[in-house]
Amino acid sequence: MKHFRFTFICLLAVIVSPCSCLQKAPVELIGLRCEMRNNPLGIDCSNPRLSWEIIGSQRDIYQTKYRIIVASSPKKLNNDEGDLWDSGIVSSDVSCQVSYEGKPLESRAQCFWKVKVTTNKGESAWSKSACWTMGLLNDSDWQAQWTGLDKSFEYDRPDASHTRLSARYFRKEFTSEKTVDRAVLYISGLGLYKLYINGKEIGDQELAPTPTDYTKSIKYNTLDVTKYIQKKTNTLGVVLGNGRFFTMRPNGVKHFGFPKMIMQLEIEYADGNKQAVISDTTWKVTADGPIRANNEFDGEEYDANKEMPGWNQNGFDADNWLQAEQTTSPGGVLEAQINPNIRVMEIIKPVAITKPDSGKYILDMGQNMVGRLKIHAKGKKGDCVTLRFAETLKPDGTLYLDNLRSAEVTDKYTLKGISGESWEPVFTYHGFRYVEITGYPGKPSLKDFEGKVLYDEMETTGTFETSDPVLNQIYKNAYWGIRGNYRGMPTDCPQRDERMGWLGDRATGSLGESFVFNNNNLYAKWLDDIEESQRESGSIPAVAPNYWAIYNDDVTWPAAYIIIANMLYNQYNNMEPILKHYDSMKKWLLYMKDSYMVDYLMPRDRYGDWCMPPENPGLIHSNDPARKTDGQLLGTSFYYHLCGLMERFAKLSDKQEDAEYYAQLSLKVKDAFNNKFFDKETKQYGNNTVTANLLPLCYGMVPSEYETEVFRHITDKTENEFNSHVSTGLIGIQWLMRGLSDRGRFDLAFRIATNRDYPSWGYMIENDATTIWELWNGDTAAASMNSGNHVMLLGDLVVWYYEYLAGIQNTSETSTGFKHITMRPYPMEQLNYVKASYHSVHGVIKSAWNIKENLMQWNISVPCNTSATVYIPASSQDKVTESGKQASAAEGVQFVKTEGEYVVFEVASGNYSFTTETKQPVK
Ligand code: BGC
Repeated sequence: MKHFRFTFICLLAVIVSPCSCLQKAPVELIGLRCEMRNNPLGIDCSNPRLSWEIIGSQRDIYQTKYRIIVASSPKKLNNDEGDLWDSGIVSSDVSCQVSYEGKPLESRAQCFWKVKVTTNKGESAWSKSACWTMGLLNDSDWQAQWTGLDKSFEYDRPDASHTRLSARYFRKEFTSEKTVDRAVLYISGLGLYKLYINGKEIGDQELAPTPTDYTKSIKYNTLDVTKYIQKKTNTLGVVLGNGRFFTMRPNGVKHFGFPKMIMQLEIEYADGNKQAVISDTTWKVTADGPIRANNEFDGEEYDANKEMPGWNQNGFDADNWLQAEQTTSPGGVLEAQINPNIRVMEIIKPVAITKPDSGKYILDMGQNMVGRLKIHAKGKKGDCVTLRFAETLKPDGTLYLDNLRSAEVTDKYTLKGISGESWEPVFTYHGFRYVEITGYPGKPSLKDFEGKVLYDEMETTGTFETSDPVLNQIYKNAYWGIRGNYRGMPTDCPQRDERMGWLGDRATGSLGESFVFNNNNLYAKWLDDIEESQRESGSIPAVAPNYWAIYNDDVTWPAAYIIIANMLYNQYNNMEPILKHYDSMKKWLLYMKDSYMVDYLMPRDRYGDWCMPPENPGLIHSNDPARKTDGQLLGTSFYYHLCGLMERFAKLSDKQEDAEYYAQLSLKVKDAFNNKFFDKETKQYGNNTVTANLLPLCYGMVPSEYETEVFRHITDKTENEFNSHVSTGLIGIQWLMRGLSDRGRFDLAFRIATNRDYPSWGYMIENDATTIWELWNGDTAAASMNSGNHVMLLGDLVVWYYEYLAGIQNTSETSTGFKHITMRPYPMEQLNYVKASYHSVHGVIKSAWNIKENLMQWNISVPCNTSATVYIPASSQDKVTESGKQASAAEGVQFVKTEGEYVVFEVASGNYSFTTETKQPVK
């Protein structure tokens, strides 16, 4: 059994009485929130973590005590009977990630819980109740067999380079004689499944289950199907698609075999009897249904004339179907899926249709989106509508497909000729803005199409807006790009024949993304994928799950393993990944040292500062040595940074000796690095690229007496040689915006962020991008590696939007999960306002500032049970008011100091409205 896996959050509204003396306060419950939708079902960890949010309208509310009750029935919970766990009254200000410490939880257990808190301003009532359900914890809980057909059919399409199978349809009738109390279904259908009971589709999950290395772990979904089971006869139907299980590219991509499933339906009757319906050889199966071909890269083909009406309902004649076979397990351990499933998260309508060619229409969705197209059509039986998808058009208005490489991105629908037909594929997805439509019966119009936007079902936690349209559009592009690349793993791109979980792309990106989406469970799952891909030697690949086996043994890509665990702790107060992966991380770090380190230098690097702006617009990678940063410099500085993180992890895991070891090792690495790469004469690192100087500066490797000079090289180079434009690739960009802003050049960071000419994010927008490009020169570079929807070049830009432009930052090291917030905005003359919010694990943090006629007004919200250090741009404290009063006299506000161009206050929870008389553009 795994340890403390899940997080529940319940919102607890504490209404406190206006007088400040302690008293019982009435409580208003405003809602309930869990990290997964609904109350989580099927959890397989022994001690889930519980969280709640306290809502109150007064200032300065903090929790002093809590009490949690977990009961096995709603009735017991109502009676305050914590038969599973009663924490008792615990003196603590911790309100998130509290580990369940009750009776050992058994498979299938239902756990109803509630919480009550005492605050400095009063006691709450009990929260509304929430519930989680345990999954199948032991192998022996599974009676179901792996079921499928290990063979291909004449209509499957295996060829030398692409494989599309027809979907496999399974059915099984069973009887349920009595009144059902509860019915829960556990399923993993590989690669992808659709589930039906009595003809109704169950759940709204798409492209499920989440992808893994199926030889290591297989995720199952748990569904409460009580309301679907009818008295007497019932029919279960399952359809299986290829997904990542049956390889789409026979050469070089991991292959797991023909689609197969494991499914167990457990019915509990009102009289206490139980029944299990399982996947086994009693099921019937056919591959001769309407989905004639499917895979994620090449698309899906559906022939409506092959539909089998009633196939998933009672009484269907399946005599000519085959008998399902028992198959071998793919090998992985069956585990409850913790990360959210994919879902249709938005539906958009196309904005235009053109006809560049006879018989061919081009649909413009107005947005580079990820998902699929639903069509409505009316035509003759046998008419075939073909759809192809692309991100851009050629000058003649037809699809530009070169950058999709071998992905055929073709969906086909063959009509059955009834009065009106609608169709959308289920086992494929595309990254596209434009769709080519051929064979459409009649003239298509916009209303015949819908774009279904698919991605992992995550809460959008951030909102962000400024007075600058370029900054806003970049944010919008980032938002579309990030969500388009969540597919149970963070993918590099959604459109070409790749779509892999490349580690290097998301190291810092994951932090920026965490402001926009609650990606806690997704990245925790991805760290598991990374661990599962680790070799016995300790080596970690560049891609996880390792559908491509790319073990380069460099540092910059695998570093994401450690960097993201740190992010999850900082942003979500989630320490589990650090504890869980500590040994594997250590193994990797030592493996790299023992195998490759020479005199404390790390000579391993494969990709360099990937995708920096090249000297020639047609190039993908620069050939100019002056633009490239030495691989050993990258490898060694990253290694140093990782030693620092591991030192922190060792302390958190109570491994003092290890902590000391990393501390010593990093000192040696730093010395070796400075001896090798720092030129005391010129005061520059390596060949003086921005990245070469930026990394040691941001990692704290530069001897303090040289910091100013080293920094000057960064700004000189940027301003003089690159005309205040970005010159870095994927590595340098992870620190650029923060590196400049932290050292007094926020203005230069701002210039880089708002540039509209090459190279810049604004340049992408000027060239019609609605997402973020893989290359700074995506409009001119060769097609072979040139996606229009990659998020890696965002680097730390989204972090900078939230932490600097809006000034919402978790106070690192001393606080996790925004328990203490540092709020410091950087108002610029060019900006009239910034308005942002972020739903942290403690509650919603808001920051909205505007400048009008030399007055800066700043409204902030600090959630209950947190506090903030607030930096207000002003020359002295008496220039700052809060809701019309001298700030230092306002309730909840305490003057701390003046620091540079800021006056610093300590602020308790609550809403505040600060005004400062002096407008101080901050340098
Ligand atoms: C991917 C990248 C990845 C890179 C590394 C590319 O093909 O799309 O995002 O990091 O390869 O080689």
